[in-house]
Amino acid sequence: MRKLIMTTLAACMLLAFQGSAVASDFDAAATFKKKCSICHKLDKKGMGPAILKMSADTKVLTDTITNGRKSMPTFSKKFNAEEITALVEHLVALKK
Ligand code: HEC
Repeated sequence: MRKLIMTTLAACMLLAFQGSAVASDFDAAATFKKKCSICHKLDKKGMGPAILKMSADTKVLTDTITNGRKSMPTFSKKFNAEEITALVEHLVALKK
């Protein structure tokens, strides 16, 4: 019985650790503030479109961040696909 509890506990800790590793490795909000907010404000047009005016299509958002578009820089070398997805989720959350 004791062994079962210990095993369960170890499994839970492993899961908790894995979960937090993904979330804490990359802080989309902080990254956005550092790398994107110079050009993107929430409701005012900066050099780039205001976040509230951005496309509702997550594919468009993902493609634009990944490949760039006109004066929007390409970020595929700076961020991996998961990080770009996190940035898109951050934008979608801000738009609500
Ligand atoms: C040098 C200024 C600049 C920086 C820095 C910048 N952007 Fe942009 N961004 C733009 C411009 C300009 C556009 C519009 C491109 C166009 O006209 O097609 C744009 C477009 C976008 C779009 C598409 C919006 C839509 O509705 O199609 C997204 C999403 C986006 N940026 C996200 C980001 C993210 C995330 C970052 C940071 C990792 C970032 N941008 C950093 C200038 C910038």
